[in-house]
Amino acid sequence: MSDSYLITGGKPLKGEVILSGAKNVALKTIISALMFKGDVVLKNIPRINDVLDLIELIKSLGAKAKFREKNILVINGEKLKSNRVDLSYGSKIRVSFMLFAPLLYHFGECYVPNPGGCRIGARPIDRIVNGLKALGVRVDYDEATGYFHAKIDNKPKGIYRFEKPSHTGTELLMMIGLMTDDKIEIENIANEPEINDLILYLNSAGANIVQNGNKIIINKSQELKQKEPFAIMSDRNELVTYATLAVASQGDIVIGTIDEKLISSFLNFMKEAGAGVEEISNFKFRFFYKGEIKPVNIETSPHPGFMTDWQPSWAILMLKSTGESVIHERVFENRFSYVDELKKLGANIKFIESKVENPEFFYHFNLDKNKTYQQTIKIIGPSELHNAILNIADLRAGAALVCGALLSAGESVVNGASILERGYEDFVEKVKKLGGEIEKV
Ligand code: EPU
Repeated sequence: MSDSYLITGGKPLKGEVILSGAKNVALKTIISALMFKGDVVLKNIPRINDVLDLIELIKSLGAKAKFREKNILVINGEKLKSNRVDLSYGSKIRVSFMLFAPLLYHFGECYVPNPGGCRIGARPIDRIVNGLKALGVRVDYDEATGYFHAKIDNKPKGIYRFEKPSHTGTELLMMIGLMTDDKIEIENIANEPEINDLILYLNSAGANIVQNGNKIIINKSQELKQKEPFAIMSDRNELVTYATLAVASQGDIVIGTIDEKLISSFLNFMKEAGAGVEEISNFKFRFFYKGEIKPVNIETSPHPGFMTDWQPSWAILMLKSTGESVIHERVFENRFSYVDELKKLGANIKFIESKVENPEFFYHFNLDKNKTYQQTIKIIGPSELHNAILNIADLRAGAALVCGALLSAGESVVNGASILERGYEDFVEKVKKLGGEIEKV
């Protein structure tokens, strides 16, 4: 199967992009649909590899799932027949550990493989497992098999405070909370808008989840049953990819639909960099080149800060800025796999030392004192880019590499298309519509 892109770059990209549904909402709405009574109809579900793989996984557990139209998915999880997630899905689908919730709901006990290592760092689930335990779930890990065994003897209840916020951790504990007869409180939660969309979906079906600042309270739910189809929000990460590409390629792209509130910190950074940004109508934004791009430093952080998923795209914009800019990654270790690859295109980027007063507090991953981390890069722009052969190691880095190739004169090959397509729907079609020369080979 063809798994590479052949790209002839160097042209300004112009036109319109209609955003697909958010990957990081789609996956969780599908998983929690398994706790609903009756059919669940989800709209705006992107046909991306992560979603297709998850559908295969839930079907292996006995759920029914079928696309009714291109982006309308109908799920029925009433008759799950297995409480064990096959090991082969553990590393392939990172969110498979979130099946703890529907499997405990149906069976009171389940076996879920450790999601294990990942290209963007160790990505342990220690804080999440501690959260499950605090709410009364018994969890044991069998090192020999690589499986977690979880069991509930009583309805979950209690309070858990995340030592540091976790996005999927907040969502999983919220789903566990749907089983309570009492009340569950989760403190120091992650606050990403994708989590709010999940709350909206669950509450519209009978859940009673209240978010209050950094805390979520889950009161006893009614039986979850959909009253009407739920349309998930648009993908903010996809917007950032195309917006930075518009400006870096000296192009002009209109992107919609998205609520301004969801991208306000990104818009501010774009304006600071001298990018043209206009809200042309409700939920539609125009991003265009309007002269010299200024270097702007960023530090990633959970919402409402500059998201970690956006920094590889920011690096692409900064390659075309006049001067030096710095990107400091605080949320994940190992999120700079694109650096060596972009250098092949002629990018001038180097890792630099970053002085941090209190690293245990500053970084969101678990720091290992015996390990050396490279969390900061300096980009020296503007770079004249040329063609190269590049290899994608992780999803967001992949988007940066393809965009790098689209900015580079000559014909480039980017290997690992299926990794990028874990998260970007109709990528080739969308780029072609903007005038980009890209083929899958
Ligand atoms: N962490 C731990 N232990 C835990 C939980 C998290 O050490 O028990 C660490 C992580 O390793 C990471 C940091 O804490 O260094 C933050 O992790 P978090 O749990 O918030 O991230 P996540 O839930 O695994 C989700 C998205 C990511 C997005 C982050 C940040 C999904 C499926 N994934 O990951 O999206 O970058 O939140 O918002 O929702 C992507 O779409 O490409 C992607 C990686």
